[in-house]
Amino acid sequence: MLLNLSGKTAIITGGSAGIGLACAKALYAEGVSVLIAARNEERLAQAQADIDAHANENGAEALAESADVSTAAGVERVVARALSAWERVDILINNAGSAPSGDFYRLSDDAYHGAWDLKLLGYMRMVRAVAPQMKARRDGRIVNIVGAAAHNPTPIFLAGSTANAAIINFTKGISQDLAPYRVRINAISPGPVNTERARQLARQEAAAQEISVEEAIARRIDSIPLGRMAETDEIADMALFLASDRAASITGADILIDGGATASV
Ligand SMILES: NC(=O)c1ccc[n+]([C@@H]2O[C@H](COP(=O)([O-])OP(=O)(O)OC[C@H]3O[C@@H](n4cnc5c(N)ncnc54)[C@H](OP(=O)(O)O)[C@@H]3O)[C@@H](O)[C@H]2O)c1
Repeated sequence: MLLNLSGKTAIITGGSAGIGLACAKALYAEGVSVLIAARNEERLAQAQADIDAHANENGAEALAESADVSTAAGVERVVARALSAWERVDILINNAGSAPSGDFYRLSDDAYHGAWDLKLLGYMRMVRAVAPQMKARRDGRIVNIVGAAAHNPTPIFLAGSTANAAIINFTKGISQDLAPYRVRINAISPGPVNTERARQLARQEAAAQEISVEEAIARRIDSIPLGRMAETDEIADMALFLASDRAASITGADILIDGGATASV
């Protein structure tokens, strides 16, 4: 499928690992200039080198900015860097997230604030920062990586699932403001995806439920009708489709990639 993304520019938050890195690599391979943002400078530099190592005949650039996008200052720095490099941002992939699993009664207020500041407020601030130039150019594509826990809350992942549910609400609400300017925003809600974060969550779930990590992973996989975790490339493929003109009539949508685990209508 031709995506015709070559020559465009994209910010990917949390682009140094997992789903964000897969999105950055896939966009770059399509000829999109990418700016990845994350906190750990060493991992960020390694990810930038990994992206750059792939041949690109379209003159695309791979940039990296170390920033904490749970803060307003971090968001401003990332967007300012992209605008100074390219004068425009065509695509935003909101992806940085790290909500912990844990017993509801034991997680501190700080754990909830951390999850909501990074994922909910972080995603909203990024949209607020990039949308004005997208609206002025009457073109923009935003993909929010959310999470199927938005639809399937459990008592041991409420910091993440409440943030995710709120982001879907935000995505649908702001889509109505952006649509007249031909700026589209959509959500992808993955179930478990094979990343370091999934392994970290399994360790936290095991501790909260007093079971082994192997048992926590087995329970997760048992709850997926297709019987396996998704790979990061599967999420990236959907993000690229939504960022392309192939999805020109899709906005305010929430696409589940969860192996059939969410049975609600
Ligand atoms: N993996 C899953 O099973 C799964 C399922 C559903 C939804 N999701 C969602 O998908 C997204 C990506 O998950 P993943 O599994 O790919 O995670 P991951 O492998 O842990 O990668 C997370 C990325 O976000 C960055 N990051 C974390 N906190 C940040 C902050 N405050 N500021 C800037 N960057 C930050 C990390 O780099 P630094 O730590 O260096 O900052 C890293 O680049 C998350 O929003 C997650 O909730 C994942």
